[in-house]
Amino acid sequence: MANKEFDVVVIGAGPGGYIAAIRAAQLGFSVACVEKWINPAKKMVLGGTCLNVGCIPSKALLASSEEFEKVGHHLADHGITTSDVKIDIAKMLERKQKIVDKMTGGIEYLFKKNKITWLKGEGTFVAKSDGGYQIDVKPVQEADKPETVTAKNVIIATGSKARHLPGMPVDNKLISDNEGALSFDTVPKKLGVIGAGVIGLELGSVWRRLGSEVTVLEAMPEFLAAADAGVAKEAIKQFGKQGLNINVGVKVGEVKAGKNNVTVNYTDKDGKEQVLDVDRLIVSVGRVPNTDNLGLGNIGLATDERGFIPVDDHCRTKLPNVYAIGDVVRGPMLAHKAEDEGVLVAEVIAGQKPHIDYNCIPWVIYTSPEIAWVGKTEQQLKAEGREFKPGQFPFAANGRALGMGSSDGFVKVLADAKTDEILGVHVIGLNASDLIAEAVVAMEFKAASEDIGRICHPHPSLSEVMREAALDVEKRALNK
Ligand code: FAD
Ligand code: NAI
Repeated sequence: MANKEFDVVVIGAGPGGYIAAIRAAQLGFSVACVEKWINPAKKMVLGGTCLNVGCIPSKALLASSEEFEKVGHHLADHGITTSDVKIDIAKMLERKQKIVDKMTGGIEYLFKKNKITWLKGEGTFVAKSDGGYQIDVKPVQEADKPETVTAKNVIIATGSKARHLPGMPVDNKLISDNEGALSFDTVPKKLGVIGAGVIGLELGSVWRRLGSEVTVLEAMPEFLAAADAGVAKEAIKQFGKQGLNINVGVKVGEVKAGKNNVTVNYTDKDGKEQVLDVDRLIVSVGRVPNTDNLGLGNIGLATDERGFIPVDDHCRTKLPNVYAIGDVVRGPMLAHKAEDEGVLVAEVIAGQKPHIDYNCIPWVIYTSPEIAWVGKTEQQLKAEGREFKPGQFPFAANGRALGMGSSDGFVKVLADAKTDEILGVHVIGLNASDLIAEAVVAMEFKAASEDIGRICHPHPSLSEVMREAALDVEKRALNK
C-alpha cells in the first residue's frame, strides 16, 4: 500500500508545531502532526512542554501560591483578618492538572476543526523520496500501529528538554527538573535550586510562598545577566526581602542524595567551601534541543555543536522544504517565539513573505514583582556605543499600584538620543507581562518615546507608569 501523503508534516505538537499545523491548514494544505507525548494519566496529549510541563502548569502554581501568600501576609493591610490559612497541595496540583487537561484537550479540538491528522508516535526521517521526505511513525502505545508517511514539506518542531548535570541524577523525587518541581506532593521544608534562571526563580518563588526555605545557587557572578542591570538589581533586592536566598558566583561540587535529603557541596563567591542540606533539589540549568531518534542523518541534516538544527531567518534548513522552529533552533526558548516561527514557516510554504523581528520578542519572568522586557538593555546599548536617553518612573507614584497594594518596581524606557526611537523597554512590577505588550507594539511600529508620551492612557491604571517613563525620556514626566 502506498504511503499516506501530506503537503505538510509537522514533527512535534508544542506551541511551535501545533500553531504551524493550524496555520498551514488555514492556508489550505493537507497537514499531519506527529506527536508522542504521554501524560501522567497515560493518555497521549498535544501541547508539548509548554502546556504539559512548562508555561501553563508553572503559571497555575504561581497563581495558587500568590493567592496563598496574599491571604497569609497581605490582606491585613486591607483590614481583612484571616486565621488558620492552610494550603491543600493535592487540591492545588489537581487544579493545575485540570487547566493543563483543558488546554491540551483544546488543541485536540482545534486539530479536528482544522482537519489536521494527528499521527500518534515518534517521528523519524527515513529517506528523501521523489514526493518529498519519508517519515516513520513509531507507536508509543500498544493500540497504535507503525506507519510511514510522505511529506512534501516537513516542519521540525521537536522542542527541548531539561539539561541535566553529571553527578546530579534527576529522579524527580529528591532531585528534580521542571517536571518534578511542578508536582511536589508536599512542601519541602528546605529546598535547594541550582541555577537562578527563569525556572529557578519562578519555581523557587512558588515553593517559597508555600513555606519552603529556598536557597538558590547560581554559577554566574552576575544575577540575571540577560536583564537590564537596573532591573536585575531591583529584582535581587525584592527577592531577598521575600526570603529567597540567592547566592551568585558559586561553584557546585559534589551532590549526594540520601534517603530523604540531598547534600550539596559548593564553593561560594569568596572561595569558601559550603555545604547545603535540603529535602529536595531542583536542577534548572537550561534546556537542550530534542533531536534524539529523529533520523536527521538519513536525510543529510546535522545539528550544530550545541545540538540545534541550523536555520536561516525564515527557519529554512539547508534542505529544500525542510524547516525547523521553536526550541530546536537558535533564539530564545520561548513559547511565543516558537508560535511566531510556526506561523512564519506555514506562510513561507504558501509563498508569502512573512518576517519576524527577533529584537521585538518580549521576555517575561512571572515572579512577584513580574519582570518583562523587549529590545535592548542599557548595558547592550553601551557596549554597542549607541547613544540613548533613559526615562524611568516608579510604580510607587501610581495610584492604581498603591490601591492594589503592589507598588514595587518601575518602568524604564530607553530611546535613541537623536531620533527618540524606542530601543528597549524594561518593566519590573505588577502585571509587567501585560504592560510590556504596549512596548512591543510601539517598537514593531518604530515608535518614538514621544509617541507613547502623547497617547492617552486610562486613569487610574498601571499603564500610566509606561506613559510617565516615556515622558521621562525628555525629563517631562508629569507626576515625578
Ligand atoms: P515543545 O513545547 O518542547 O514541544 C515539542 C514537542 O515535540 C513535544 O511535545 C515532544 O513530545 C515532541 N517531539 C519531540 N521529538 C519528537 C519526535 N521524534 N516525534 C514526535 N514528537 C516529538 N515559555 C514562555 O514563553 N513563557 C513561559 O511562561 C514559559 N514557562 C516555562 C516554564 C517551564 C517550567 C518550562 C520548562 C518552559 C517554559 N517556557 C516558557 C518555555 C516554553 O515551554 C518553550 O519555549 C516552548 O514549549 C517551545 O515550544 P516548541 O514547540 O519548540 O517545543
Ligand atoms: P536559564 O537559562 O534561564 O537559567 C539557567 C541558569 O543556570 C543560568 O543562570 C546559568 O548561569 C545557571 N547555571 C548553569 N549551569 C550551572 C551550574 N553548574 N551551577 C549553577 N548554576 C548554573 O534556564 P532554565 O531556568 O532552566 O530555563 C530554561 C528555559 O526555559 C529558559 O531559558 C527559558 O527560555 C524557558 N523558560 C521561560 C519562562 C518564561 O518565559 N517565563 C519560564 C521558564 C522557562
